[in-house]
Amino acid sequence: MKAIQVGLIGLGTVGAGTFHVLQRNQAEIRGRAGRGIEIAMVSARNAERAKAYQAIVGDGVPCVGDAQQLVNNPDIDIVVELIGGIEPARSLVLQAIANGKHVVTANKALLALHGTEIFEAAREKGVVVAFEAAVAGGIPIIKALREGLTANRIEWIAGIINGTTNFILSEMRGKGLDFATVLKEAQRLGYAESDPTFDIEGVDAAHKLTLMSAIAFGVPVQFDRAHVEGISSLQATDIKYAEQLGYRIKLLGITRRRQEGIELRVHPTLIPSSRLIANVEGAMNAVVVQADAVGTTLYYGKGAGAEPTASAVVADLVDVTRLHTADPDHRVPHLAFQPDAMSDTPILEMADVHTAFYLRLVVADQPGVLSRITTILAEHDISIDAVLQRESGEGERQTDLIILTHDTVEGRMNEALAKMQGLPTVLAPIVRIRKEELA
Ligand code: HSE
Repeated sequence: MKAIQVGLIGLGTVGAGTFHVLQRNQAEIRGRAGRGIEIAMVSARNAERAKAYQAIVGDGVPCVGDAQQLVNNPDIDIVVELIGGIEPARSLVLQAIANGKHVVTANKALLALHGTEIFEAAREKGVVVAFEAAVAGGIPIIKALREGLTANRIEWIAGIINGTTNFILSEMRGKGLDFATVLKEAQRLGYAESDPTFDIEGVDAAHKLTLMSAIAFGVPVQFDRAHVEGISSLQATDIKYAEQLGYRIKLLGITRRRQEGIELRVHPTLIPSSRLIANVEGAMNAVVVQADAVGTTLYYGKGAGAEPTASAVVADLVDVTRLHTADPDHRVPHLAFQPDAMSDTPILEMADVHTAFYLRLVVADQPGVLSRITTILAEHDISIDAVLQRESGEGERQTDLIILTHDTVEGRMNEALAKMQGLPTVLAPIVRIRKEELA
């Protein structure tokens, strides 16, 4: 059978990795896919990069500057979009779909924001949009959620799905350094981008979480409903206190099904040091899935990089190649559930989310201070799990008071925090970090 023809948009790190993996493993890939997978055309805006690749791939594979030429090429069966960002990626993907081509993409931002439009367009044209590489790089978590766990009712997912922030947090904990120092080091080592905003402010993780949540719970992708909080204001002091209490702080993406709706949130989170996921260090990614039949499963691996991400891109190429001639009605739906079985369960407001808390208060070291604070918590029906008092290093007249609570509703905690902050004996803004036992 004639090899399937692929058009590759973007020759950056992942584009190059895809090229190399396809070349190196072509015999095995052909054996698995049932036919060859050939790159028939590439597009790159960077002329130098284009020239370098042209030299490798030879004249048989044209490299064009204008990706429109690629998506309109009638010989191409699958378009691989690896340029990232919203435009021109969105227009190119929609054009490829309109031309009846399947799409493989690593673009989490595009799908988290425009997934509904893109999946609908693909469904109408009977083509596949595959996106394993968009979430957690080389970890086959989309496949696991959509197919491997299909027998289950998924209850929650918690993931370390941004390597940059996990590297920063690991360094802060390991070396006792502050955020700004470690960020600079991460940039020097190439772990963090020169503009690291999307990573450190939790946006990249929220894109990925939005996609996992949609697949797990059969709801439309709704990035605008996600709570997004990064690590830029996290202090080394809190990492140290968390450790003394038996916890580590990770930037987690959490999505959980509750009776009233779905939680969809990214924020720094205390998790018990004894959990496997708490020991995921450096730039590695990991996702824990809790499901009713299988129980807890954990997926671990590289969430970025040329060949780990290419591993996911090529896996999608093989999948799409196998499905190319299958009846569109018998393919795995983009979001796991058939379009008429999608749910309209709402995404919950943060005020309605249930979680436990770590609180750090800088308080005057006087009689009655602790009791006033615990009274406020009791009045809001918030139960205390542990209390730690430590010299704050600012002299004898003030002290750090660290409180761990049991689960409560976030709205109730907000009210209690406002009351505590109003006490004259609370001397600085209260630090609040959510805590999950992940039991
Ligand atoms: N910048 C991401 C990370 C990888 O640090 O994990 C691509 O999403």
